[in-house]
Amino acid sequence: MVKICCIGAGYVGGPTMAVIALKCPAIEVVVVDISVARIAAWNSDQLPIYEPGLDDVVKQCRGRNLFFSTDIEKHVREADIIFVSVNTPTKTRGLGAGKAADLTYWESAARMIADVAKSDKIVVEKSTVPVKTAEAIEKILTHNSKGIRYQILSNPEFLAEGTAIQDLFNPDRVLIGGRETPEGRKAVQALKQVYANWVPEDRILTTNLWSAELSKLAANAFLAQRISSVNAISALCEATGANVAEVAYAVGKDSRIGPKFLNASVGFGGSCFQKDILNLVYICECNGLPEVANYWKQVIKINDYQKSRFVNRVVSSMFNTVAGKKIAVLGFAFKKDTGDTRETPAIDVCKGLLGDKAKISIYDPQVTEDQIQRDLAMNKFDWDHPVHLQPMSPTAVKAVSVTWDAYEATKGAHGVCILTEWDEFRKLDFAKIYESMQKPAFIFDGRNVVDPEELREIGFIVYSIGKPLDPWLKDMPAVV
Ligand code: NAD
Ligand code: UDX
Repeated sequence: MVKICCIGAGYVGGPTMAVIALKCPAIEVVVVDISVARIAAWNSDQLPIYEPGLDDVVKQCRGRNLFFSTDIEKHVREADIIFVSVNTPTKTRGLGAGKAADLTYWESAARMIADVAKSDKIVVEKSTVPVKTAEAIEKILTHNSKGIRYQILSNPEFLAEGTAIQDLFNPDRVLIGGRETPEGRKAVQALKQVYANWVPEDRILTTNLWSAELSKLAANAFLAQRISSVNAISALCEATGANVAEVAYAVGKDSRIGPKFLNASVGFGGSCFQKDILNLVYICECNGLPEVANYWKQVIKINDYQKSRFVNRVVSSMFNTVAGKKIAVLGFAFKKDTGDTRETPAIDVCKGLLGDKAKISIYDPQVTEDQIQRDLAMNKFDWDHPVHLQPMSPTAVKAVSVTWDAYEATKGAHGVCILTEWDEFRKLDFAKIYESMQKPAFIFDGRNVVDPEELREIGFIVYSIGKPLDPWLKDMPAVV
């Protein structure tokens, strides 16, 4: 029986390994992590992450050929193939701080593999890493090898949160990069055989190591670029009376452009886009390509602009101050169908409103009060360092309250900000919400989930990203 061990039981390691175990009954898969709490949760009925369909997959194979453990060394020693899916955050200090990838966790995993291995291993980069990381990892492993042979493969993960299981079951492609030597090609084939259990062969792409590493960063940069492009157009729509939904539809109908990923929003969030683009920018700078670095940096600048533009709209519409006013925030996760709040635009929006002394009442169907308080107390880039994966009691931001009910959050509020596109927000009784709010009652829709005309009929003053402005907003020009 082939044995796989995955180091890192996070948003990628957990679901990816669960699907491999489900689709490959002849392979034993063990997922290991340094976080005792995370492993305990994977072994319980309350999984550490919310992902549609994940519970079902885990239930089918946990205890059969899928295991979660903190006994890292044992399982690494026994494995034939070791996936490394640890976090690769942005460096917070030292050379490249604020841009470069922090490979501390990756390096310590590699050194541990070299320490405990007693047989040849295939080591797979599942984490998103800078180009040429495989070379560094190879050096660490071979310089400490004690005669053991290693093959390093790059097999970046393209799943998106909220649709992870669907994406893993039916991926657009699986990418495997390896050394162009007989041993390298053999290792690529061994990993290809794992995926071939359920992925059609023509969707399994094999490349050299550097193409695989760079393709992941490039794919995320291209995706994020589409959102910043449509968000940039959304600002122009508001200024001209065009409707961004109509523009995006017309643009996306061009088969060379395509319809997906053109939804204007309050800004993209999540653990990948900003981190990976910053990483790409740093790699360009290190390779003496400042123009290329600046090109990609602009994708992030537009994203920051979109978030601050939203806050400015809220404040300027409400007579240029939100001090002491209750603002309800519906949705805190970075997108629907996940409880993940890493780099969610809601953090920047809430911090912006708190900066103007608002009182905020937050409701999200999947995010706990503890998580929200922690996020609002955290510094930029601190979120992806393991200490924050451990429970801790942050100093609560007093002007923030968290409820488990949208009607409670909006009761007595002056304004409502919709920051995540949860389906349930489309079905809310807005007439009831209007009745319970202060007047004039404002709705600022950062995800274009409500119909502005219907809400205006009820009496709301409505702002929807990139849509023709409410007459009220035209009279209250924002510094955007
Ligand atoms: P995560 O923070 O959810 O999980 C990483 C896990 O690794 C944590 O549980 C941490 O405790 C563990 N870990 C860190 N160092 C360790 C060590 N030395 N030994 C054992 N465990 C260790 O991160 P994630 O979201 O799963 O992302 C992992 C990687 O995959 C990152 O490089 C990320 O960029 C990439 N990625 C993420 C996504 C996504 O949607 N989240 C998608 C594609 C790729
Ligand atoms: C992303 C990539 O899509 C995935 O391929 C990669 O493996 C990891 O990074 P993820 O961050 O999980 O996945 O979610 P994604 O669906 O890409 O959304 C990222 C952010 O962009 C979210 O905040 C989302 O709301 C926002 N978004 C997405 C938009 O604002 N508009 C869109 O049209 C699409």
